[in-house]
Order: sequence, then structure tokens, then C-alpha cells
Amino acid sequence: MKVFIRIVIFSILISMAYWGFSNYGIPQVIPELPPVEEQISGSMTMDQYIALGGKIFNGKGTCTLCHNPVGGRAPLLVESGKDGAPIGARAADRLKDPQYKGKAKTAEEYIHESMVDPSAFVVTGFGKPGTNDTVSPMPNINKGSIGLNEAEIGAVISYLQKSAGVQVTVKLPTGPAPVAAAAPAEPQSAKTAEEAFGKHGCTTCHKIPGIEEAGDVGPDLTGLSGRAGKTVKGLIPEQYVMQSILNPDAFTVKGFEPGTMPADLGEKMTAKELEMIVKYLLEKKG
Ligand code: HEC
Ligand code: HEC
Repeated sequence: MKVFIRIVIFSILISMAYWGFSNYGIPQVIPELPPVEEQISGSMTMDQYIALGGKIFNGKGTCTLCHNPVGGRAPLLVESGKDGAPIGARAADRLKDPQYKGKAKTAEEYIHESMVDPSAFVVTGFGKPGTNDTVSPMPNINKGSIGLNEAEIGAVISYLQKSAGVQVTVKLPTGPAPVAAAAPAEPQSAKTAEEAFGKHGCTTCHKIPGIEEAGDVGPDLTGLSGRAGKTVKGLIPEQYVMQSILNPDAFTVKGFEPGTMPADLGEKMTAKELEMIVKYLLEKKG
């Protein structure tokens, strides 16, 4: 059903693109209200803290952009499977790995280090291409547009430990200041294209002209305006860019892995955000 709705929305968008979407305005892609912001006080319980960690993991932390069972571009963290036990449980084994040269002494410290200094230890086979697994493609999640603070990082670790069924070793933060800072969960609709790129994690994978933070998991989007109309026969630039975002598997750019770009962006962004993003990418020459 979800897929069906997406296809319907996609066809509407595509036909609107023909008419020039600024004339008609795009209907909200996301009809539901934004999630209610978490109210966090100093009297939060451990269960609430863990739940907040899950929310950050699946939301503003952007972790599931890469750590998901579909793309295969990052090791699974909450599921057990080909990468072994969930990270909460396998973290302790990483410390015993002869390749491990990081500073962590405990499983909790290992997960923390993986988040703030991803290249301290790179899981075999997941390094940036050509670096022989010495450089991680994962962004430092306490920097840039993700910018999690210590209280939020702790919440994510507690969630990862809880979902692995091991003892939660993270301490509940005390004092209202750091916990209060963890409160704004998901920002509402972005006001500018730049904000929308950060909110949806585009810059963790792409270089985008005019934006400093740049990932290289996906193609450099500099010069996209020049090639967008020539990439897929029959699609005008707006249609190609929209298709790339709403239905990334319809066409895979040469040299990149299919299934890496999240397929559910259309369900997460508002129509306004989509419109701003498409416009920006086609106007900025870089
Ligand atoms: C742009 C893609 C990307 C994003 C976003 C990302 N990661 Fe990663 N992560 C990776 C890759 C690739 C690896 C494997 C390479 C390495 O060891 O750094 C990894 C490794 C890890 C590891 C170590 C796994 C192990 O088996 O030892 C942890 C823990 C982790 N990530 C947590 C997170 C959390 C939590 C978030 C969100 C706050 C996140 N990551 C966001 C790509 C990403
Ligand atoms: C987890 C990494 C990841 C994230 C997050 C991501 N992308 Fe991508 N993107 C890719 C990869 C990999 C490709 C190339 C493979 C393909 O075509 O599907 C790609 C392809 C594209 C293309 C086609 C590029 C070309 O040269 O033709 C566009 C446009 C694009 N992405 C825009 C976006 C936008 C806008 C966002 C945020 C709303 C975004 N991407 C988020 C990984 C990502």
C-alpha cells in the first residue's frame, strides 16, 4: 500500500513537473503532523532515555540511512545477521580484535568511539574504497548537520545495548542542562534547501555545491544541473532529480551501489522541501 501511494504521488509529481511545479504548488508529500517534541526533564527514567535513543537512532541521528538491512553499506547494529550479534553484544569482541588500535577499554566506550571517531577502527570490508579499510565513510555524528551532543550519544548507546539484550551501562545524565539540549527531536519542515539537505542527511553521502559538509558515499552533485537532462532518456532535468530522490532504484548512477540511497525519502520530506531541493540542485552550478 505504501509503495502504491508512493507511486501515485510520484506520478502526480512527474506530471506536475511537466506543467512547471511552481505554478501549481506541490501537495504535501507527508500528510501527517510532525512528531511531537519529546519533553525531557531531569527526572527522566532510564526507559524514557532508551526510548529517546531509539528515536534519535531512527530519526535525526540519520543512522538508518546507512545501517539498514537493505543497502548493505554499513554493518547491521540492532539486528543480528551476517555481521554477527547486535552491536551492543559484539562491541566487546571488537576490543579483542588484533587490528583494534583505538582507545576504548569497554564495550560502551567502543560504541561511543565508533560514533565520534569512526576511523579509529574500521570494520573489515566497510572502509572507503581505496583506503584498505583505514578510513571510514561514516561521518562524525557529533559534528556537522547531525551534531549529536553527549546526552544524545549516551541515549543512542543505551538503546543499542538494550536492543542487544545486554546490560545498559550508560549512566542517566543528571542536571537539566545536557538533557534539555537533547529535547528537540525532529525539526519541522525545513525553511531553506540548505536546511533540508542537513535534515535528510543528503550531505552525509553527497558533495553539494555551496555546502561545506560533504560525503562521498554517493555521486558529487556538483554539475548535476548540466547532466540531469541527459542521464535518462525521456526525463527532463526536474523529473530526473525527483526520480533520483523519490525512487532512487529506478536508475543507478554508474559506479555506485544500487540500494544505498534510502528509498523512503519521499515519505520523510514535505513537498516544500522536495521542491526547494530540486530547485537548488538544478540552479547551483558549483
Ligand atoms: C553515511 C553512512 C553512515 C551513517 C549516517 C552512520 N554510519 Fe555508522 N558506520 C558506517 C559504516 C560504513 C561503518 C563501518 C566502517 C567503520 O567501522 O567505521 C559504520 C560503523 C559503525 C559502528 C561500528 C560497528 C561495528 O561493527 O563495530 C557503530 C557502533 C556505528 N557505525 C554507529 C552509528 C550510529 C549510532 C549512527 C547514527 C548516529 C551511525 N553509525 C551513522 C556508516 C554510517
Ligand atoms: C546513504 C547515502 C545517501 C543519502 C543519505 C542520499 N543519497 Fe543520493 N545517492 C546515493 C548513491 C549511492 C547514489 C548513486 C546510486 C544511485 O543512483 O542510486 C545517489 C544518487 C543521487 C542522485 C543522482 C545523482 C546523479 O549524479 O545523477 C541525486 C540527485 C541524489 N542522490 C540526491 C540526493 C538527495 C537530495 C538526498 C537527500 C534528500 C540524498 N541523495 C541522500 C547515496 C545517498
